[in-house]
Amino acid sequence: MSEADRSVDLDRDLDLDTPKGDRPRHSRTGNSVPEPRVASMFDSIAPVYDRINTIMTAGMDGRWRRAAVRAARLSPGDSALDVACGTGKLTAALAMAVGPVGRVVGLDLSTVMLDEARRAFGDLVQVEFRAGNALALPFEPRTFDAATIAFGLRNLASFEDGFRELARVLRPGGRVVCLELTMPRPRIAGRLYSAVFGRMAPVMGTAFGRRDAYSYLPDSLEGFPDAGELAETMRRVGLANVTVRRLALGAVALHVGEVG
Ligand SMILES: C[S@@+](CC[C@H](N)C(=O)[O-])C[C@H]1O[C@@H](n2cnc3c(N)ncnc32)[C@H](O)[C@@H]1O
Repeated sequence: MSEADRSVDLDRDLDLDTPKGDRPRHSRTGNSVPEPRVASMFDSIAPVYDRINTIMTAGMDGRWRRAAVRAARLSPGDSALDVACGTGKLTAALAMAVGPVGRVVGLDLSTVMLDEARRAFGDLVQVEFRAGNALALPFEPRTFDAATIAFGLRNLASFEDGFRELARVLRPGGRVVCLELTMPRPRIAGRLYSAVFGRMAPVMGTAFGRRDAYSYLPDSLEGFPDAGELAETMRRVGLANVTVRRLALGAVALHVGEVG
């Protein structure tokens, strides 16, 4: 069995839609924390972000990223935009898919995250890292073949506007790919997950001297739309053929939609 097949098998779809009864009555439509504060929190955790991420995900984040790259269906020579790129790991994985004659732009609000990304992947000729806001992308319509956002959507002031911007910069047939934490089902697993994540993130933050920023992470998941609601949000901005795949026993959702 190939690495790709094994990943599909382990992370098999558990369900596609959350039944209405399980949905929170009022999911948030955006993040209420002001953008400058979001940026400064990510600036402060940038130097330790990758280490904490690897510990908190037990190293599974690499597999999720590979699933996102496959979902983008890129070919050599294509172009892709990785929004909220952080330290650039997904940007670099997309760069492998488009090859040296392709183009990938990694964009982020946090300049310190971008410094880390440039330090790690600045030698990839097809990659450019740029400062910018996911809600006002500095690109013309129909610029890219795919646009990704990994664990960035829940930080945006409007989730719907975030998807709208991603769709705007894609050519017809281009794919929007979103990786994001989500509440696992059934409910009991979801409660256990929030209890563990809610406690673990601040503990990790304290261990690395970043308690405040790591308390924000579980808060940003509170009231976040479930996978079915997020799929609806994508359809509302005009994305077609929207699919949802749950990874990590349902704790991570991979949403994909196509520009018509
Ligand atoms: C949890 S990190 C994810 C980083 C990376 N995509 C990954 O998978 O490791 C979230 C990132 O979103 C960025 N971000 C938050 N709000 C943003 C916005 N409005 N525009 C662009 N980036 C934003 C943060 O600076 C941070 O780097």
